[in-house]
Amino acid sequence: MAAPDSSAPAPPTPPTDPAVAMLRLLGGFQLSQALYVVARARVVDLLADGPLRVDEVARATGLRPEPLRRVLRTLATEHLFVRDEDQDSVALGPLGHTLLSNTDDSLRDLALMWMETHYRPFAHLWSTLHDEVPAAEHEWGMPFFDWLAQEPERVAGFSAAMSSMMRAVRRDALHSLDLTGVRRVVDVGGADGTALAAVAERHPELRGTVFDLPHVVAAAPALLERAEVADRVDTEGGDFFAGVPAGADAYLACFILHDWNDEQCARILARIHEAAAPGARLFLVETVLGAGAAPGVGALLDLTMLGMLTGRERTRGDWNTLLGGNGFRVDGIRETAGPMCVIEATRT
Ligand SMILES: C[S@@+](CC[C@H](N)C(=O)[O-])C[C@H]1O[C@@H](n2cnc3c(N)ncnc32)[C@H](O)[C@@H]1O
Repeated sequence: MAAPDSSAPAPPTPPTDPAVAMLRLLGGFQLSQALYVVARARVVDLLADGPLRVDEVARATGLRPEPLRRVLRTLATEHLFVRDEDQDSVALGPLGHTLLSNTDDSLRDLALMWMETHYRPFAHLWSTLHDEVPAAEHEWGMPFFDWLAQEPERVAGFSAAMSSMMRAVRRDALHSLDLTGVRRVVDVGGADGTALAAVAERHPELRGTVFDLPHVVAAAPALLERAEVADRVDTEGGDFFAGVPAGADAYLACFILHDWNDEQCARILARIHEAAAPGARLFLVETVLGAGAAPGVGALLDLTMLGMLTGRERTRGDWNTLLGGNGFRVDGIRETAGPMCVIEATRT
């Protein structure tokens, strides 16, 4: 009989046994922490050029070899790594590259942020289903964005995670924006400018403003410089519940309204409505529950919203009602090759 090919990824386990499928789901919290360990220690980066012995990985990362070996073995069953037990070596598996540092589709910053901020609050989900207070507020005694603002490293980690998510799952949506006739766009809640820089790079005539809370948008000028769009894209700090920059012919809000409940969204939309002239375009990059190339992403993020904030993911009907009731006509909901959709609307 031929020896099994140790470089081939293990075949996925079919969920034929409901108890086994449930065990894997229930154990998800342990897998998340194991993923955090290898992401934080940059184990994946070490393997980018080829397999290494586990003791070499341990030496390079400062992790203890014996537990590291066990973590790698477990994550090999999740296709992160391929283990060669005879050689005691490890190589990247089919999912490994998603945790590399500094690649375009890296989710490493998200792995760090979710485990360092979102993990503990989720222990309070039970309470949220009784009192409507987000689990994050049970953990910290204050809303998520207030807690984030307390430490510059938290803000930087969150913006890095958002921009990595932007590149990994939202690029298709940003590339599909129809900006015909648009001269100036305001990115409402544009964080460190990653999204607007990507849009401006594709539209050389476009001018724009990244608008976010002052301590968040402070990171944007450097990023816009690096992207060589700083001569066309400026930044402004402020609170979108109080007002947004006026006079643009398009407003972009990428992953913003899903953070807030309908009443709070109505207040944000009212500020955009005041700032925009009739006929101005509004582009929302969001998930649409039940739609898009990967509907499971919206369902997962809906849980994130439930635990961390007052928001929710929304269906087509929800988006039509929310925008239609707040001075915007929905022109269409565009599905993209990725999990996100673009909701296109006009200020009436
Ligand atoms: C989920 S992040 C999305 C960031 C970015 N648009 C993206 O797609 O990666 C939400 C953003 O809303 C910003 N934000 C939260 N409250 C805000 C407020 N009151 N005024 C302005 N921006 C706010 C946060 O700082 C954060 O950058």
